[in-house]
Amino acid sequence: MIKKILITGGAGFIGSHVIRRFVKRYPDYSIVNLDKLTYAGNLENLREIEDYPNYSFIKGDIVDLGFLSELFTTEKFDGVIHLAAESHVDRSLENPAEFAITNIVGTLNLLQAARINWKDNFSNKLFYHISTDEVYGSLEHGGHFTEETPVDPRSPYSASKAGSDHFVKAFHNSYGLPVIISRCSNNYGPNHFPEKLIPLMIHNVIHNKPLPVYGKGENVRDWLYVEDHASAIDVIFHKGKSGEVYNIGGNNEWRNIDLVKLLCQIMDSKLKREKGTSEKLITYVKDRLGHDLRYAIDSSRLQRELGWSPSIDFPKGLEKTVDWYLNNREWLDHVTSGAYREYYQSMYHNR
Ligand code: NAD
Ligand code: DAU
Repeated sequence: MIKKILITGGAGFIGSHVIRRFVKRYPDYSIVNLDKLTYAGNLENLREIEDYPNYSFIKGDIVDLGFLSELFTTEKFDGVIHLAAESHVDRSLENPAEFAITNIVGTLNLLQAARINWKDNFSNKLFYHISTDEVYGSLEHGGHFTEETPVDPRSPYSASKAGSDHFVKAFHNSYGLPVIISRCSNNYGPNHFPEKLIPLMIHNVIHNKPLPVYGKGENVRDWLYVEDHASAIDVIFHKGKSGEVYNIGGNNEWRNIDLVKLLCQIMDSKLKREKGTSEKLITYVKDRLGHDLRYAIDSSRLQRELGWSPSIDFPKGLEKTVDWYLNNREWLDHVTSGAYREYYQSMYHNR
């Protein structure tokens, strides 16, 4: 019975949904959130559960092996769910080394700390690594990524995630560390940082700013509501087989331009603006370097073997997402103004 779980990156978008789910569903578990609180980490995402007795937060950096070794020794974790990462493709094009350091070295350090601390006894231990469908590369107009698709990363971000996946597999093969990797498609939902497509478009529509669509807007992504990713992580963590990879996806492909237009329609109706108002803000801009054309995930293995399926359809999920952003303007203002970062810096600077 796993009791004390380290969740890394829990102040970020997906991590905060995973933490909320685990803290509420498993009162007998002790959930420790380790996060560096980079620009993407926001403790406001966790207000709802921050006072639960089975939750605690530790500010720290997965790149610091000395810190991790001490943490594993004192906390005696039974399991790790590792989400901490640099996650934005555009930023990886600007600063690839930062992605290699956080995503590859950080993951390697966590693996080392877990292995060294657990080495006497791997039974009932698990290192669960959250990866991405982007490690499989890019598809043309047909086919899907399966777990057998060769890894073929094409951006510095996906290369760094693929590198971390390789280290996770190597620790399983070389040392027998119990590991699982899951690779998910694009997530959307509340608490998504407004540098990513959907929250950026919502933010810009609210403020009447241009909606930057890269290239011709023909790139395709497979969108999954973030709570469905959290439920998949829950199922895989509890029922998945050590040494395996599981794909997670929404079977929900959209061309960027079609998605942005749908979002514009929803926003016009929610903001009581005349039909077509938001669409006028669409601006085609220079394409992303090496822009992957299409991602599409085959998650049938997860559905067949572990009984998971997504529960929220896209129109409903998108509407819930828009409603959340419209009802949480303060959250949006804080993350775009940087006020929350200053606040947390002053709160945690000496920890
Ligand atoms: P995010 O950028 O919103 O959050 C990342 C979190 O990691 C932040 O809280 C940040 O403070 C923390 N972090 C970064 N560097 C750290 C370090 N050195 N030490 C400790 N904490 C650190 O990311 P997200 O979108 O929530 O993604 C979470 C994970 O899921 C990532 O591993 C990502 O690759 C993967 N993933 C994301 C998506 C998606 O659509 N967003 C899809 C599939 C997989
Ligand atoms: O597939 C999973 C991945 O999805 C995750 O591993 C990444 O962490 C996550 O960021 C996401 O990567 P993408 O690059 O697909 O997401 P992003 O929201 O940045 O872009 C989605 C699509 O929209 C992509 O084709 C680029 C395009 N785009 C993006 C932005 C920010 C635009 O056209 N305009 C924009 O302003």
